[in-house]
Amino acid sequence: MTRPTLPAGSTLRQAASAMLHSLDPAAFARDALSFTLDPWQSDLVRKMASGEAKRAITVCSRQSGKSTTAAVLAAHTAAYHPGSLTVLLAPTLRQSTELYAKSAAFLRMVPGIKLAQDSATACKLTNGSRIVSLPGEAAGIRGFSAPALVVVDEAAFVPEDGGLFDAVLPMLAVSNGSLLLLSTPNGRQGFFYDVWEDPGDDWLRIGVPWQQCPRITPEFIEEQRRINGPRYVAVEFELAFAEASGQWFDDAAITAIIDPNLPRLSLAF
Ligand SMILES: Nc1ncnc2c1ncn2[C@@H]1O[C@H](COP(=O)(O)OP(=O)(O)O)[C@@H](O)[C@H]1O
Ligand SMILES: [Mg+2]
Repeated sequence: MTRPTLPAGSTLRQAASAMLHSLDPAAFARDALSFTLDPWQSDLVRKMASGEAKRAITVCSRQSGKSTTAAVLAAHTAAYHPGSLTVLLAPTLRQSTELYAKSAAFLRMVPGIKLAQDSATACKLTNGSRIVSLPGEAAGIRGFSAPALVVVDEAAFVPEDGGLFDAVLPMLAVSNGSLLLLSTPNGRQGFFYDVWEDPGDDWLRIGVPWQQCPRITPEFIEEQRRINGPRYVAVEFELAFAEASGQWFDDAAITAIIDPNLPRLSLAF
């Protein structure tokens, strides 16, 4: 349940704005964090905070504000869902800890919110909520139960053999928690790519090319094209799921050597 935090002696105006902030994370960001979210960021955090979207996948341009959006949602969840657990995951602990640091910095700006315990990787609020950051492996999250929100930053880069997604999905089913995956593309492979290509009805799917980020200019993109080439710009800024890095032959070359006239191999054991 969403519940605003009201210090004793609050005025009616303060009560009204606490109510608004508990219902609307974009208004919370604007008023409590002095941060105006971009339209896609507002849309995402509103739909997730209201429960309209329990699963969201976003493929974004580099520097579009993925981690910032996730940090706003994490801070909002901890502040307005007393006793909730938010788990932040990323390919490495360093990355998830960075996301945690952003979330905790936001929380410290909110009047009426106090961090009772605060380490480099996790915190507990006086309302009983916790935010923890962990590396993207199943082993780390097994000890945690019933998260209200799980965020996987740079989700396309989480190693598949860590079993993370196999562990997270049943965990969320039990707690009816929400899942947010954010990433730049990382080739046509893995759980993230599969969900993005075929999300089904359960997922909110948001794509954010650089043109939707007001802080990235066409001049910057042209410079990147000159320095790093068109493939780099397509993958990092324009959401292209190109061949996986490390793939020896590009997809066009592989397609070219598959002769459609050859009979299909049928293997019998
Ligand atoms: N809505 C916004 N308004 C102003 N600055 C923003 C906004 N969203 C993100 N930023 C800034 O843009 C930069 C990149 O954000 P970040 O969340 O790290 O991007 P990403 O994770 O997509 O690479 C940061 O300096 C962040 O503060
Ligand atoms: Mg980031």
